[in-house]
Amino acid sequence: MKKYISISSLDAAHLLTKQIIGWLNEELSRDFYLAISGGSTPMILFHVWREFYVKDIDWQRLQIYWVDERFVDPRDSESNYGMTRKILLDHVPISENNIHRILGEIDSSFEKERYSKEVLQSVPLLNGIPCFDLILLGMGDDGHTASIFPGQTEFYTSPEIYVVSPKPNTNSVRLSMSGSVLKNAKRVVFFVTGEGKSKILQEIFDNAPNAANYPANYFAKKCTNVEFYLDEGAARLLTFP
Ligand code: 6PG
Repeated sequence: MKKYISISSLDAAHLLTKQIIGWLNEELSRDFYLAISGGSTPMILFHVWREFYVKDIDWQRLQIYWVDERFVDPRDSESNYGMTRKILLDHVPISENNIHRILGEIDSSFEKERYSKEVLQSVPLLNGIPCFDLILLGMGDDGHTASIFPGQTEFYTSPEIYVVSPKPNTNSVRLSMSGSVLKNAKRVVFFVTGEGKSKILQEIFDNAPNAANYPANYFAKKCTNVEFYLDEGAARLLTFP
């Protein structure tokens, strides 16, 4: 697990964007399959893409999928797609054919089947499982990632492509990429900012016993080519060799 620390979340967003552009340009002969997360942290990344890198990103080759989505209408403020549409997609020259959203407004079990099939049929496969070029993950302050929450260890190895995941202690239900697909990606980036995440990050990087409770810990250690992009606040408790 490599970690890159920047003073601010803005600096981290620029550093991560330049790396993504580098990966995008590694294989110019084919499309680049990217899965993005929701929540608030990606907002700064999408603003940076839109304000500074529109001409550097090859939008024609970028195929955008979602790691997870809340089962709400896309116009709802909770919608990951709605947020991405508002901040990024309406402002960059990307074809609608390259935007593969989760239909949060329809029945969860139906959408799980539909979206799993769409991903299975459109994303290149490795060992029969969709293999994304890059999966962008965040981490909640309870150590969840994607929409896999502490205790939902059955999703770590589920053979399904996407799973319906109830968010604990709420009535909300989400669609989440399963662990099988997360672990099959070429690269995984955790973009994590804010002091509220620093304690969990310290436990993950120090392999503390408590870390075993966190889905973010499991995937940070089981996924391939994992990189953390952190701001100073999130990294404040980390030690360096
Ligand atoms: C979601 C995300 C989720 C997110 C974390 C961190 O739909 O909420 O996919 O996994 O990455 O909750 O969220 P913040 O970036 O808002 O802290």
